[in-house]
Order: sequence, then C-alpha cells, then structure tokens
Amino acid sequence: MWDNLRADFRRAHAHTSYRGAVRKTLHTLTSPGFQAVWSYRLTRWLMARHVPIVGAIIQRLTEVWTGISIPPETTVGQGLLIHHFGGIIINSAAVLGAECTLHHGITIGNRVSGGPSPILGDRVMVGAGAKVLGGIIIGSDAEIGANAIVLKSLPPGAVAVGMPARVVRIKAASQMVGPALVAAADAVAGERDG
Ligand SMILES: CC(C)(COP(=O)(O)OP(=O)(O)OC[C@H]1O[C@@H](n2cnc3c(N)ncnc32)[C@H](O)[C@@H]1OP(=O)(O)O)[C@@H](O)C(=O)NCCC(=O)NCCS
Repeated sequence: MWDNLRADFRRAHAHTSYRGAVRKTLHTLTSPGFQAVWSYRLTRWLMARHVPIVGAIIQRLTEVWTGISIPPETTVGQGLLIHHFGGIIINSAAVLGAECTLHHGITIGNRVSGGPSPILGDRVMVGAGAKVLGGIIIGSDAEIGANAIVLKSLPPGAVAVGMPARVVRIKAASQMVGPALVAAADAVAGERDG
C-alpha cells in the first residue's frame, strides 16, 4: 500500500500548478482526487485484512466527500492521478494500469448490469466526461477525448474522440512506453471472460 501511495502522491504533487514545496504539498493533500486515491488504497488494504465494514464506511464517506467512487475490488496500478472533483465512477471489475490520468465526470464500467468492465493499460488518459464501457481493452498510452463514449478496444497510443469514439490518430512510438501490457491485459481479459 505504501509504495502505491508514495507513487500516487509523487504524481499528484508533480502535477500541481502551485510553486513552493509547502503549497504544492498542501494542495496535493487537500485535493479531492488524491484523497479519493488514498482512500481507495486504504479500503483495499482493509479488505485484504478482512476489515470490510470499516472499509465500506470509509468508501461511502469518500464518495460523498469527493464525488469519486473507486471500490476496493478495483485493480489500480501505481501513480493514479485524478484531476478535480467528482462524477467519477469506476466499476469494481475494472482494471487500470500504472500512471493513468482521469479528469472529472468519467465512468469506467459495464454496458449491462453484471457485464464485463474495461481494462486500461498504463498511462491511459481519460478526458472529462468520457465513458469507457464494456469488456474492452484500452492500450497503454491511449488518450480518450473529453466526452467520448468508448465501446470498442483501442490499440496502444490511440487518440480517440466522439460518440461512439473513433481513433483520430496513433501516437508516434517515441510517445509510448511498454505497449506489451496490452498483450498481458488481453490474456487477463481472456481468462476473465471465460
Ligand atoms: C482527445 C485529445 C487528447 C486530443 O488532443 P490532440 O492529440 O491535440 O488532438 P487534436 O486537438 O489535434 O484533435 C484531433 C481531432 O480530434 C478532434 N477532437 C479533439 N478532441 C475532441 C473531443 N474531445 N471530442 C470530439 N472531437 C475532438 C479535433 O477537432 C480534431 O479533429 P479534426 O482533425 O477533424 O480537426 C484532447 O482534445 C482532449 O479531449 N483532451 C481531454 C482534456 C480534458 O479532459 N480536459 C479537462 C480539463 S479540466
């Protein structure tokens, strides 16, 4: 938990626009996005130690306080950065790789109740208001535009916009790191979906 939290803090701290270590640190610690992330890490840690009731209470309070819902069952890699307050719902079966970035008003979940949820690779950016739905795989380094509705898998480095989302370009290889995670995610999805 601590390694993940340190990585989350470092990323949020590096992205604050304030100058000066004290102001940057205060801004990071009080930002709803970082608070939701550390609350998720804590509730996941509690869940693993069979303390579900305390975890559930903390999760509910966090949802009310930050407007961000990340259930402890969700798998989230190190260094998750959430900009701004609120409107973020992530399904418990979703998987987020390392160093993903979420803006406000995002849903990452299933298309029908009980259906599969998305797997996001590393360093995926999801723009404000976007919805990523169903048992799809979003390749590492992909960028999802504001208000996009993504219903199909995206290759690594894809920039996708619109409703339903379409790929407008693929980033140059120099702008990507480690698309291999997609293959790994594919394997996980294959296992999960039977
Ligand atoms: C998707 C995004 C990352 C693309 O950025 P980019 O790589 O610089 O791409 P461009 O601006 O060159 O846009 C490429 C094409 O997609 C279109 N486009 C870009 N973003 C779009 C969006 N959110 N919805 C619909 N179309 C979009 C552009 O109009 C352009 O179309 P054209 O080729 O027909 O002119 C960016 O536009 C975006 O939506 N970022 C999210 C930012 C965000 O959520 N901010 C919240 C701050 S609080």
